[in-house]
Amino acid sequence: MPVSVVIGAQWGDEGKGKVVDLLAPSMDIVARYQGGANAGHTIKWGDETFVLHLIPSGIFHEGTACVIGNGVVIDPKALMDEIRQIEALGYPVAGRLKISHNAHLIMPYHKALDEAKERWRDAEAIGTTGRGIGPAYVDKFARSGIRVVDLLDRDGLRKKLTAAIEEKNDILSAIYGSERLDVDAIVDEYVEFDQQIDPYVTDTSAFLNDALAEGKSILAEGAQGALLDVDHGTYPYVTSSHPTSGGACTGLGIPPTAIDRIIGIVKAYSTRVGNGPFPTELEDETGERLRAEGHEFGATTGRPRRCGWLDLVALNYTSRLNGFTELAVTKLDVMSGLPELKVCTAYEIDGKTTERFPTDLRTLDRARPVYETLPGFSGDLSEARDIADLPDAARDYLQFVSDRLKVPITVIGTGPKREETLVAS
Ligand code: IMP
Repeated sequence: MPVSVVIGAQWGDEGKGKVVDLLAPSMDIVARYQGGANAGHTIKWGDETFVLHLIPSGIFHEGTACVIGNGVVIDPKALMDEIRQIEALGYPVAGRLKISHNAHLIMPYHKALDEAKERWRDAEAIGTTGRGIGPAYVDKFARSGIRVVDLLDRDGLRKKLTAAIEEKNDILSAIYGSERLDVDAIVDEYVEFDQQIDPYVTDTSAFLNDALAEGKSILAEGAQGALLDVDHGTYPYVTSSHPTSGGACTGLGIPPTAIDRIIGIVKAYSTRVGNGPFPTELEDETGERLRAEGHEFGATTGRPRRCGWLDLVALNYTSRLNGFTELAVTKLDVMSGLPELKVCTAYEIDGKTTERFPTDLRTLDRARPVYETLPGFSGDLSEARDIADLPDAARDYLQFVSDRLKVPITVIGTGPKREETLVAS
């Protein structure tokens, strides 16, 4: 079966972009299925670095078609900016990128509401990226969203947009005490997107299902991570979509039976950006070291990421949830030089030990990590060309993780560059 899904196994920022970039040359199509410009998928090659927010990470491989599926929420301005930046680097986008006519749009009022609501939440803020993601999905499910297809009907868009801004202005001013947005300025700006976006608009579900019927291969690229799933993550400290394998089906309009490979991307340690529970968080020198060595600052917002030890309780949970068939472990090089490596293998909650990840926040807040300690390793891993070249302790660490999760590790990241990647033969 030709669909592979790439999924962040933790709280996002696992290095999905790099793995998608590695797999893309062997795929006919790379498709994003959820989230929006809250994502930041970083790709490095030679001296170049590019952070993709909306466009799939296959765009730098010219033989690969790219799809933004119906499950994604699209900020048209951010999208057109990204297209221009990629074309300026010499990579053609027109003719290769297909955008679902059914994907919902992020409008300026979604961003205003995102920011206003975070301010209103005060100490309880989620720590969103401020990209308007949650409010856009709210409108989608309230059945009052504006979709890509609406951009192609100027008169219809004027009406829908005017009504939506007037409604949101009442909410912004009456509830949050925010300034009202300028209706005419927004409408005039957004009706201009019709011609720019028209060449990309496609019934992407039909396109993908036709491709499947022709035996083509598809890589579904998840954004964020499974622990940020709105149903299965650490609610309410989650994003508003399904970054899990089920989300690939609804977010692209393809059947689950078409999927045969589900690759969990696991950072060799844990990070989280934004608020919410994080049982293995390190608020000490080791945490600082991981942040500095791993350049753990948000690719979208620049915020410092919280860092901690690898958490196998959480990973076992996301492995089961997604049905990982293999794992890609990224950023192993960042752990080089640590004298010992701790791995959380259980939680202690109210004096009892459990290997089950609690999905209600009040219980999770009381979870204390139980660690096993493994020997550290040192040296420059980026020189390794084969898994056998890695230090013994690094291989033991990987083996420990694979054994405990009962999933094989097929890809290992040993540095930020494309070539600093080991693939199991
Ligand atoms: P939102 O998706 O902007 O609504 O943010 C909700 C939560 O998800 C916040 O904790 C964000 O920091 C987190 N989040 C959203 N996108 C990403 C991502 O791409 N990487 C890591 N965390 C993310």
